[in-house]
Amino acid sequence: MKHLLSITDLSTDEIHSILHLAGRMHQLQEARVKKLPYLKGRTVVNLFFEDSTRTRSSFELAAKWLSADAINVSARGSSVSKGESMRDTLMTLDAMGVDAIVMRHPGSGSVAQAAGWVRACMVNAGDGTHEHPTQALLDAHAMLTHFTRTKLGTLEGKLVSITGDLLHSRVVRSNVALLSRLGARVVLVAPHTLLPPGVETWGVQVTPDLDEVISDVDVAMMLRVQRERMHGGFFPSEREYVAAYGLTASRLTRLRPTAVIAHPGPMNRGLEISSTAADDPRSIVLDQVSSGVAVRMSVLHHLLAD
Ligand code: NCD
Repeated sequence: MKHLLSITDLSTDEIHSILHLAGRMHQLQEARVKKLPYLKGRTVVNLFFEDSTRTRSSFELAAKWLSADAINVSARGSSVSKGESMRDTLMTLDAMGVDAIVMRHPGSGSVAQAAGWVRACMVNAGDGTHEHPTQALLDAHAMLTHFTRTKLGTLEGKLVSITGDLLHSRVVRSNVALLSRLGARVVLVAPHTLLPPGVETWGVQVTPDLDEVISDVDVAMMLRVQRERMHGGFFPSEREYVAAYGLTASRLTRLRPTAVIAHPGPMNRGLEISSTAADDPRSIVLDQVSSGVAVRMSVLHHLLAD
């Protein structure tokens, strides 16, 4: 594996190998000394052209806990704000001899393009509305950990609903690709205005009616309404969005006792997810965050170790 650009690039063996090693890396979070020697002497740059809390800090922790040197470069505060092109920024960092560049950028396809310019391994940390492969891997890891703990088996045959602003979401694209490969059944739920073009070719069920599926799902994944990417009216009002697509306290009562609630974050509490749902004992939102560090350690190990 030279780069991690999209879920579709990964073989099924590579997916299982990443998830398996993530399970072992997860144990480090409980340890008092959080340091493994595998990436000693390697350098990882986090290059973020868009805002981020959990993705950036978990990649940084993942690199540091594996003993790599890690630095953060964000568009704000770098020469990008002086007009430097993305290509020049990448070639500059590459010329310093870094081993991996973890990149987030608003342009779909930008990380794959960057991979053609540099010697370093490129990791896609979110490219526009295209893909966010480590998010899907950490979502799967959090679900699998939960199902193993509660003796509910694997993802095979599980019903996962993904509800919300699917049009602007790179998370949904990576998740559909990965969950389908792991044998889960996916149902996408959104108003017609928030469905991605071509969604009917993705090979999964699509419905505008959350109430039709909510009592059957094993995982209710809610996605953020991405206001910063919306230019125009995608739904009549926030009140109507909540009424039709929010995981409200009343919908929560219809969720199975064994079902879980997932959200990649950041959450808009009171919009796509109520505070009652976010803080419900069935919520795995914080498990997703801790799986994020483990999965990113595993990905960096796969790319850079030996
Ligand atoms: C997601 C992203 O940036 O694509 N967040 C994340 O990485 N945890 C989803 C979002 O921004 O809503």
